[in-house]
Amino acid sequence: MKSFGHFDDVRKEYVIQSPQTPYPWINYLGTQAFFSLISNTAGGYSFYKDARLRRITRYRYNNVPIDMGGRYFYISDNGTVWNPGWSPVKTALDFYECRHGMGYTVITGKKNDLKAEATFFVPQNYDGEVQQLVLTNEGSAAKSFKLFSFAEWCLWDAQDDCTNFQRNFSTGRVEVEGSTIYHKTEYRDRRDHFAFYTVNDTIDGYDTDRDAFIGLYNGFGDPQAVANGKASNSFADGWSPIASHYKEITLKPGESKTLVFILGYVEMPADKKFEADGVTINKEKAHAMIEKYNTPEKVAAGLAELKAAWDKLLGIFNVNTSDDKVNRMVNIWNQYQCMVTFNLSRSASYFESGIGRGMGFRDSNQDILGFVHQIPDRARERLIDLASTQLEDGGCYHQYQPLTKKGNSDIGGDFSDDPLWMILSVGAYIKESGDWGILDQLVPYDNDESKAKPMLHHLDVSFYHIVNNLGPHGLPLAMRADWNDCLNLSCYSDKPGESFQTYTNPKFAAEGGYSKVAESVMVAALFTYAGPTYVGILKHLGKDAEAAKAQAEIDKMKENVMKSAFDGEWFLRAYDSTGAKVGSKECEEGKIFIEPQGFAVMSEIGKDQGADIKTLDSIDKYLNTKYGLVLNNPAFSKYYIQYGEISTYPGGYKENAGIFTHNNAWIICAEAYAGRGDKAFEYYSKIAPAFNEDISDLHKTEPYVYGQMIAGKDASRFGEGKNSWLTGTAAWNFVAISQYILGISADFDGLKVDPSIPKAWDGFTATRKFRGATYNITVKNPDHVSKGIKSLTVDGKAVEGNVVPVFSVGGDHEVIAVLG
Ligand code: GLC
Ligand code: GLC
Repeated sequence: MKSFGHFDDVRKEYVIQSPQTPYPWINYLGTQAFFSLISNTAGGYSFYKDARLRRITRYRYNNVPIDMGGRYFYISDNGTVWNPGWSPVKTALDFYECRHGMGYTVITGKKNDLKAEATFFVPQNYDGEVQQLVLTNEGSAAKSFKLFSFAEWCLWDAQDDCTNFQRNFSTGRVEVEGSTIYHKTEYRDRRDHFAFYTVNDTIDGYDTDRDAFIGLYNGFGDPQAVANGKASNSFADGWSPIASHYKEITLKPGESKTLVFILGYVEMPADKKFEADGVTINKEKAHAMIEKYNTPEKVAAGLAELKAAWDKLLGIFNVNTSDDKVNRMVNIWNQYQCMVTFNLSRSASYFESGIGRGMGFRDSNQDILGFVHQIPDRARERLIDLASTQLEDGGCYHQYQPLTKKGNSDIGGDFSDDPLWMILSVGAYIKESGDWGILDQLVPYDNDESKAKPMLHHLDVSFYHIVNNLGPHGLPLAMRADWNDCLNLSCYSDKPGESFQTYTNPKFAAEGGYSKVAESVMVAALFTYAGPTYVGILKHLGKDAEAAKAQAEIDKMKENVMKSAFDGEWFLRAYDSTGAKVGSKECEEGKIFIEPQGFAVMSEIGKDQGADIKTLDSIDKYLNTKYGLVLNNPAFSKYYIQYGEISTYPGGYKENAGIFTHNNAWIICAEAYAGRGDKAFEYYSKIAPAFNEDISDLHKTEPYVYGQMIAGKDASRFGEGKNSWLTGTAAWNFVAISQYILGISADFDGLKVDPSIPKAWDGFTATRKFRGATYNITVKNPDHVSKGIKSLTVDGKAVEGNVVPVFSVGGDHEVIAVLG
């Protein structure tokens, strides 16, 4: 199969060697407040905190050709016009390379002896993207050429920007000062922020009006100004403001010139917005920002600081197994993706427009599971933000906007699984940090401070929200949807355009919007899986009576599942609103679903009757394919109105029998839990991106990160990936490989070591920083088993069980675990 690049593990980079990847292969810059998406041809855009409400540059989704809008450098060299990243001009290059690294991207192009190397990154604690362009004349004669930069401003609200043209074509405003172009639309009135694009050198001209630069009937690939060979110093007045610098450059043979461009974002206090004239923007802060990175030396220092920050983060958990691909995923890319999903939830990717979704309650809580070890304090802050959007009865807003941190009432709530993920995420945070204090912290309900209660109260209501909303079989009500947004047992509809998640079916309007009959076995199993974390917390706090009461609810739920939701060889998926089984051998299609199975196995529901192994074997038999586990089988081949969105997808795509990599992880965990390390690893390696690098042609999306879905066996494009980057797959597969297969997990009282590995492995080593100490772990597998600790020693002393204690004194500790 065709190769598009390779991993450079030493530099923690993916090196792309052809600009025409099967889909744009992107990277993310920024991890704090300023974010950029950047593709391997420099497409993408930037925003501050919120991809919808504070969009800085424009991007054209669903465009022809693909991936239009970006930070482009145009070089005009004696009539030949080219971009270092090939696109958008698409002049064939003599050399092209894109290195996506940890928070930076380096794109290098060469044409006719001129080399252009562009490094893009967002420095630490900085609200801007730094772009360093190094131009080198590699030929033997002097070279004179022209350089044009390009960025197109978005008028801040990305939704409004791409719809409200009658207004927006008249509001765009800019200012130019020396080599800096300022974007100040609406700054005169209600906004307190502006953006700028600057270069650390004199310029020979500029353009700020898009039509002047590109030409009304031209495109990014043939801008008029570049064709004309000069800028026109155009001044945007409405229409579409842009920022383009123009510079004439001459380089002697062997000579290099380095230019530093900065795309920055500034907020100003109301009383400092303007200079004395009340019109000119006060640029004090902008000047200070520019000053910070206006030389190559400062850029080098910023990059070094960024790399050091990533080395530190990735140093917290590190493994050395005999499989390079596992090492690469665990040590670099999977953790990197966990940071990105933590920051952006499901908001902005090349499959999420940044307009549609903010921070998802279930999504972000799950993201924390894969991220919490990196920066527990940021996880804590996120937990508080999430819990603040919870309602007093334990339900919650399904999404909130990162800029306002307020629950999104367009989407509303009543997703039955939401509260349970918070039990898991708060549990994961306490296990990682040992910070039991979070449970006492006052956290509002519905963002209303007057309704604040301790975080523990939020966990109580989360747990009892399930218990208080049971259906006829004593199983949790499915409500609008559970984890599967597309299994809508109440919000089903027969009119195009009605949202399956928010539509209120008149049938159930009187009952509060959803059926009081439809039940989710998935939520039941998630409850029995997450519930023990809540019980563990209560016990630790000495609340034994409450712990016993909660445990009784968990036990009762397990009984109810065995009584009404075990189908003989696997667990049912649900009961629909007529009381009919979903995901049963009795069904015509969709006889088995993946979602409840892993959690049921890990909760040991019906284990004494062999339900766990029967279930796992059924998954292997009915859901396993060469590219991963499909979500359900057989795929739905017609529209089942009573199930909602799921059967609107053609078979093999998305929730209708696609390979949803997110819940593949639950099965990987369950196989590892059951001690079947070989199966766990088989499933892991089928979907882990580094293992699919050789089929990039088919797989399409980036070989260094997970996508949400790979087309399933019923699809004509079986094996093709979509929805890369922003998916719960990142967190859950990190949990699966690190905590279940490699078996190293934070626990309330220490670090648990309980691997479940392929029998062929001789063992592995790992380093884990945990609560201030460093654990150097060696796992030995002399008997070639998958699971079971024969002996555990810490600093030469034997330890009972599989939990290594916390070392409050810090330091390095040698842990040796022998399997057998
Ligand atoms: C998407 C959503 C997630 C949902 C899943 C299944 O990944 O982000 O919230 O659980 O689809 O429908
Ligand atoms: C669609 C998608 C699903 C997503 C949901 C919510 O239904 O298929 O993956 O979670 O929208 O936006």
